[in-house]
Amino acid sequence: MEVIISDTKESASRAAAQVVARLVREKPDAVLGLATGSTPLPLYQELVRMHREEGLDFSRVTTFNLDEYIGLPRDHEQSYHSFMWENLFSQINIDPVRVHIPDGMTDDVPGFCAAYESKIREAGGIDLQILGIGSDGHIGFNEPGSSFASRTRIKTLTQRTVEDNARFFGGRGEDVPRHCITMGIGTIMDARVNLLLAFGGNKADAIAASVEGPVAAIVPASILQHHPNAKVFVDEAAASKLKLSSYYRWVYDRKPDWQKNA
Ligand code: F6R
Repeated sequence: MEVIISDTKESASRAAAQVVARLVREKPDAVLGLATGSTPLPLYQELVRMHREEGLDFSRVTTFNLDEYIGLPRDHEQSYHSFMWENLFSQINIDPVRVHIPDGMTDDVPGFCAAYESKIREAGGIDLQILGIGSDGHIGFNEPGSSFASRTRIKTLTQRTVEDNARFFGGRGEDVPRHCITMGIGTIMDARVNLLLAFGGNKADAIAASVEGPVAAIVPASILQHHPNAKVFVDEAAASKLKLSSYYRWVYDRKPDWQKNA
């Protein structure tokens, strides 16, 4: 795991965007795994800027989103489908045919999940997965206790995640769907590169447990310690409980530029 601590979420997101942009330039038909929520917003804004100002070309890129709420139609304002089109896809030259987001309205959840896994395989696997982290350590919606071998499937949100996400539903926890479809931890671990982003003090405990704690299913993101190419982009607040923060800064400050974006 490589930990990159930046002063602000904007500078952390710019650093993460450089890694994404380098991949897309080197491999124009790259397969990206994408996350929703508040964390990736500055990263998506930076990718939009790179597309507009630097010609970053997404026309051959394929995307797979991590998750979607069950029971929300695509056009619901809080569906992850709406989120992705509003915050990224409508502002870059992505081919809609290459966009994949779990269907929260499917009437055959197991069949849909198996097909989603097949589509990822057929696309050649995910080159780079973007992740946020829940305050309970979840990645995707793999809540504490999720199997490290899990694949795309239905999950039930924890009460804590429902409360965390109530802010998107006008503060009404009762409106947050209880179930979702999420890529599994095994699916996420198959991505060739994982970029985990976390900002703000309410992520500090989850980041410390994931990066420096024991690898355990109770902290799903801790499995990334076993990933061969996982980078963790954090701001000062999210890094505030890391024991080795000065070492992570020391390492990053001494890296050659080519390695920073690799
Ligand atoms: C969303 C996802 C979740 C979020 C996490 C953090 O697609 O997979 O794991 O990344 O719940 O959410 P925010 O960024 O809103 O704090």
